Amino acid sequence: MFEIIKEVAAFLYLKGITSPDTGIVLGTGLGKMVAEINIEVEIDYADIPHFPVSTVESHKGRLIYGNLQGHKVLAMQGRFHIYEGYTLQQVTLPIRVMKLLGVKWLLLSNAAGGINKSYHKSDLMLLDDHINLLPSNPLTGENIDELGPRFPDMSCPYSPDINSLMEAAARKLEITLNKGVYAVVAGPNLETRAEYRYLALIGADVVGMSTVPEVIVANHMGLPCAAVSVITDLCDPDNLVPAKLADILETAGKAEIKLIRLFDEVIKNLK
Ligand code: HPA
Repeated sequence: MFEIIKEVAAFLYLKGITSPDTGIVLGTGLGKMVAEINIEVEIDYADIPHFPVSTVESHKGRLIYGNLQGHKVLAMQGRFHIYEGYTLQQVTLPIRVMKLLGVKWLLLSNAAGGINKSYHKSDLMLLDDHINLLPSNPLTGENIDELGPRFPDMSCPYSPDINSLMEAAARKLEITLNKGVYAVVAGPNLETRAEYRYLALIGADVVGMSTVPEVIVANHMGLPCAAVSVITDLCDPDNLVPAKLADILETAGKAEIKLIRLFDEVIKNLK
């Protein structure tokens, strides 16, 4: 696996991605942020060796490198999910490659269902912690000692420094930023009413199908990260309406501008 990670990093370096300091992962319906980037290099995932190809229509599948707010950013427009049939090693390959290319900070976004009854559609939530309900883990198998330890600590998976910048940026921009716990499920089906009750009971504020594998490998490598969920649907088991992808994408699109302004402000202050 480490050979593959090094090979992909070498390939991207030769394509001109030579000094990224900030990694960005843009989730479902949240790809417009790339319009803010002064693009230097743009590569479709299909043209990168060993990269899985994003099979979800709402995910573009492109790696973007360029300048944003005084930083060199490497952004994934579209990510990979376990429900697409990929292993979690494949899902997290780009994050490990980012680290090898020199990325120092990682910002992630995702679309999620709101479990906490005080949350509204289009609200943002900063991840304070997570619950991993996936059937596997990106670190299973032989440990890659060059990247990190066999048993990485997870007592503080989200960087307090970046989270402080997020909260300061939200205050400055007058954007409501909830803070809570993200539970990850494999999907692709949405949850049953009983499952939403269970998720509320175990302490989840939102539920989604991504982000946690990337955060696990980032922590393994000592790469500070922060993540923001866009609440695209409400998961109240007593008033559950069928969730439609079109509605989820529409809500993500409406909230996207808040996310872009927030990430812009945070990136400006990263140092
Ligand atoms: N459940 C799981 N994943 C999701 C949801 C949800 O309700 N909404 C957006 N992603």
